[in-house]
Amino acid sequence: MKSLIQKLVEAVGPSGYETQVRELVMEEVKDYVDSWKVDPLGNLITRKSKKGKDGLTIMLAAHLDEIGLMVTHVDDNGYARFTQLGFLFPINVTAGRVQFLNGPKGVIGLDASNDSIYKTDGLNKMFIDLGVDNKADCPVGIGDVAAMMRRFEDFGDRLVSKSMDDRIGVAVLIETLKQLKNTPHEVVGVFTVQEEVGTRGATPAAYDVDPDIAIAIDVCPTGDTPKSKTNQIKLGNGPAIKIRDAGMLADPAVIAWMEAGAKQAKLPSQREILLRGSTDARAMQLVRGGVPAGCVSIPCRYVHSPSEMVDYNDVQNAVKLLVHLLSKPVKL
Ligand code: CO
Ligand code: ZN
Repeated sequence: MKSLIQKLVEAVGPSGYETQVRELVMEEVKDYVDSWKVDPLGNLITRKSKKGKDGLTIMLAAHLDEIGLMVTHVDDNGYARFTQLGFLFPINVTAGRVQFLNGPKGVIGLDASNDSIYKTDGLNKMFIDLGVDNKADCPVGIGDVAAMMRRFEDFGDRLVSKSMDDRIGVAVLIETLKQLKNTPHEVVGVFTVQEEVGTRGATPAAYDVDPDIAIAIDVCPTGDTPKSKTNQIKLGNGPAIKIRDAGMLADPAVIAWMEAGAKQAKLPSQREILLRGSTDARAMQLVRGGVPAGCVSIPCRYVHSPSEMVDYNDVQNAVKLLVHLLSKPVKL
């Protein structure tokens, strides 16, 4: 699974510009699903198996997009100013490198004219240096989109890269669709767009699918680094089952189903309480007349940085948990 993860994290797909990633995913899953389509927003909606007598329509969602940058203007000296697609922590981008969808690469520099160069400033005091000296030579312009550049690193159990959020969820969903052989359910695997700008892809996708249960697969921050915020999530302690985040309360019946499944399959799991942020599960929970929803999270250090770190055991256990849950009838 590591080579699949590497391929996915090294692809470039900021919110709204997910084509490259979607095409990669399509190649991977097409032989393991019964049908697939791409909706007008760019969500890839795959369907596997038919709803049996004891079956439900279960929607699983993992987002294709990553946080990106968009050029707002280029100054006379050819430096490109930018804004964010999704949430970029300024501290994580200084001196970073970016790659534009249309080819050019650049380095992020910081205005030196303020006295705060030893602090990290807002994005509006940063620029992208594309190696040119004037505006006419600048290979990018207003509206051009870039993503952070950073190689995939395999530390053994720990994997590090940009865009683990949420390519690791995409990898888990692909692998789940590959490994799932027998299911009483109609399993709808959806690779969503525009999550980082406010779960915009999952909303119409869930309306279209009209699921009986919806599960997002995403990352969650850990509390296992020095002086980290109150959070008991630890890398390597198993996939996290979401209880609440800032945007949703997971359905207690869905939580109970997931935790009982983990216990039955003898898989480690931990409970997730997230104080900031949300996932596609929120969007899916709130469509039509409302949907019982939950989320399986892959614990991840340094979320929304170019060096997001996950534990490979958690990744594999998330796949095992989902395959186990989807293989049996569900009574919520
Ligand atoms: Co994110
Ligand atoms: Zn995410």
